[in-house]
Amino acid sequence: MNAPKKVCVVGSGNWGSAVAKIIGDNAAHNPKFDSTVKMWVYEENINGRKLTEIINTEHENVKYLPGHKLPTNVLAVPDLVEAAGEADVLVFVVPHQFIGNVCDTIEGKVKKDALGLSLIKGVDAGSDGLRLISDIIREKLGIDVAVLMGANIANEVADGKFCESTIGCKNKERALLLKELMENPNFRITVVEESDVVEMCGALKNVVAVGAGFCDGLGYGDNTKAAVIRLGLMEMVAFACTFCTSGPVSSATFLESCGVADLITTCYGGRNQRVAKAFVTTGKSIEELEKEMLNGQKLQGPATAAEVYYVLQRKELLNKFPLFTTIYQICYQGHPVREFISCLQNHPEHK
Ligand SMILES: NC(=O)c1ccc[n+]([C@@H]2O[C@H](COP(=O)([O-])OP(=O)(O)OC[C@H]3O[C@@H](n4cnc5c(N)ncnc54)[C@H](O)[C@@H]3O)[C@@H](O)[C@H]2O)c1
Repeated sequence: MNAPKKVCVVGSGNWGSAVAKIIGDNAAHNPKFDSTVKMWVYEENINGRKLTEIINTEHENVKYLPGHKLPTNVLAVPDLVEAAGEADVLVFVVPHQFIGNVCDTIEGKVKKDALGLSLIKGVDAGSDGLRLISDIIREKLGIDVAVLMGANIANEVADGKFCESTIGCKNKERALLLKELMENPNFRITVVEESDVVEMCGALKNVVAVGAGFCDGLGYGDNTKAAVIRLGLMEMVAFACTFCTSGPVSSATFLESCGVADLITTCYGGRNQRVAKAFVTTGKSIEELEKEMLNGQKLQGPATAAEVYYVLQRKELLNKFPLFTTIYQICYQGHPVREFISCLQNHPEHK
């Protein structure tokens, strides 16, 4: 039998801690995996104590997932190279703005045959055009990378409430190993091959959620929000068809948890929707609200809207994606939020 695979969770925010709970439980009971799961923690001081020390003694991430015990075999490690260096499976779950630095730190220091799994929702508009977060990891570290995305609000997953998720992975054997690592009776996973489409769904739905929050902030009802979700989905599909050049883009992938299901849950309950609603009702900036409302958690929707805007602008495609474009302009260019409603009224879908 092969040696048990060592697993490292790279990240320990709200979602990182929730998945560490699942992975820790599974690794403790499945001989395919080493029972110790290392979790890289960006060190912080919490009332005079190190967060890693609190996690390793109280088995709780008191800042990012308070009220939930982590399995005792999850070991918080503040040094990224020490955490990731020996791992056979690396689960990346940091906010997307930090992935560049994370990869720079461990470049050349991870196993060459390690398998990566990215849970990170976002895209990068580099000078060469659009790059997926999995592409950045793959290119920097030279390892194979799959993705996991779905309708998975972290606190509900940590509560053990039933949900579904999607793994995008081109290699069947590796996909099954990842499914064994991540799945439990209340976290059911479907595997699909179109990993780029899965990843784009995960990134783009956060932009649509900002639109849903605007609609709530303006006092519009569920019919309007359903229109935002539908028009947002149409733009997500069009965006994937334009930018996923490595393989097919099938509508079936949008019907998996990573597609419509994640879009719906995020538009009703996620942090992007909540902050965007407050943006309208308080008049404060996105940055101020992120600090005030999220206690260190990061907002992905407005930042992703900016990345998407730059990529579309360079390709002269802004007019084909009015919802994405207007959301960016309202967040960052001072456009009045009422423009969002005219954007819905004049959307090319209605012409
Ligand atoms: N929270 C959810 O419900 C959820 C669900 C699915 C996917 N995701 C995705 O998972 C990813 C991680 O989100 P999260 O919710 O675990 O994080 P989070 O927003 O809750 O927490 C922020 C994390 O960033 C860390 N951090 C702060 N400064 C840093 C720095 N300079 N370098 C590196 N790390 C730093 C913090 O220590 C903390 O662990 C995101 O891409 C998110 O979209 C989140």
